[in-house]
Amino acid sequence: MHNIIQELRGNVRVFARIRPFLPDDGEQIVNGESPSVTHFGDEQVAVPNPNNPSQRHEFSFDRVFGPSAGQEDVFEDVSELVQSALDGYNVCLFSYGQTGSGKTHTMQGAGSGVMRGLIPRCLEQIGLHKIAEEKDGWEFSMEVSFLEIYNETLKDLLRVNMNQECKHEIKVGTDGRRTVTDLTVKVIDPNDRVAVDAIIALAAKRRSTASTDMNATSSRSHSVFTLSMTATHVVRNQVVRGTLNLVDLAGSERLDRSNATGQHAKETVAINKSLSSLVDVFTAIGQKQSHVPFRNSKLTYLLQPALSGDGKTCMIVNLSPTEASVPETLCSLRFASKVNLCELGKAKRSIEEVRSETRAPSNAATASLKSGAVSRNVKRKL
Ligand SMILES: Nc1ncnc2c1ncn2[C@@H]1O[C@H](COP(=O)(O)OP(=O)(O)OP(=O)(O)O)[C@@H](O)[C@H]1O
Ligand SMILES: [Mg+2]
Repeated sequence: MHNIIQELRGNVRVFARIRPFLPDDGEQIVNGESPSVTHFGDEQVAVPNPNNPSQRHEFSFDRVFGPSAGQEDVFEDVSELVQSALDGYNVCLFSYGQTGSGKTHTMQGAGSGVMRGLIPRCLEQIGLHKIAEEKDGWEFSMEVSFLEIYNETLKDLLRVNMNQECKHEIKVGTDGRRTVTDLTVKVIDPNDRVAVDAIIALAAKRRSTASTDMNATSSRSHSVFTLSMTATHVVRNQVVRGTLNLVDLAGSERLDRSNATGQHAKETVAINKSLSSLVDVFTAIGQKQSHVPFRNSKLTYLLQPALSGDGKTCMIVNLSPTEASVPETLCSLRFASKVNLCELGKAKRSIEEVRSETRAPSNAATASLKSGAVSRNVKRKL
């Protein structure tokens, strides 16, 4: 039933989130709301035409969150996709938007209280599901990996030895699934809050960030958190395999506003280039072109299985409320509209009957390594 509702809604969903004003924004606030980015109802947002402020551009999405929406409000709508991953689908959730618009806040958030973001909240939901389904005879194995794509290079955020940089490559299996060589994969119990918090904190500490004029802790890379789940029911001879990819993108930025120089200016060029590859991929999918340029960036190549055919995708477009950002906000909204036009086809659920000799082993690592859209070669296991 859940999947029928999801299918009717389409396999690509787009949410927009307007962040609140911050003290550093340096703009006048009118009644706590942005005079530039207005939202009405739960699904519409409008920005003035930068060339003619008496006109405005209006956009509709599956959901629009205003500046007062909290982390839990965003999660409530996202939780449907987490359920899809638990049901055996390949799900990919992106946090997109210009620099400083709240992508990392949405995805990772801060601390373990109300400000915690989607990654810990998704894991909590999965943990509750696990407890409930175990009572019905299901056994779960779950693993996570966390990587960043920095200047078109893959980096393992969970690697044991910080000094031992490894060159990671994306390999494609005969079934199209991606494998990242030598990536650390951690077996995880989503109900082990200490372990979950430690993984998120470690990745956040290692992620490439820098201070720019637009954001004191600007992400200089795309991060991809992947959870692979395998659920086995011995009595029913069933195995369900689902994957959840949570992607916090680096923000698009204009060098004249971020004032990034030297190495950070190079990063900006790499970030903008790979974001435009993502735009090209969604444009090609939306226009049903025969060729989709997945190979043009590491990000799109890695996530190709989730973005084509059998995946389910949700794009959260984060927006700054400031007047100075209106041109970038308009760009983000136009991109979001393109994504909104995309159809990925009918998502495929990974559920199979197992004969006793091929039944998924209780060894969690072996079972779920076969499962993910982003699966890996494991050299080290923690
Ligand atoms: N909804 C929100 N409520 C409160 N603070 C927010 C919200 N969204 C963003 N912020 C704050 O705004 C600042 C910038 O947010 P964040 O770092 O998430 O931006 P970003 O989109 O990830 O930028 P970049 O592309 O540079 O990495 C942070 O201090 C963050 O805490
Ligand atoms: Mg960020």
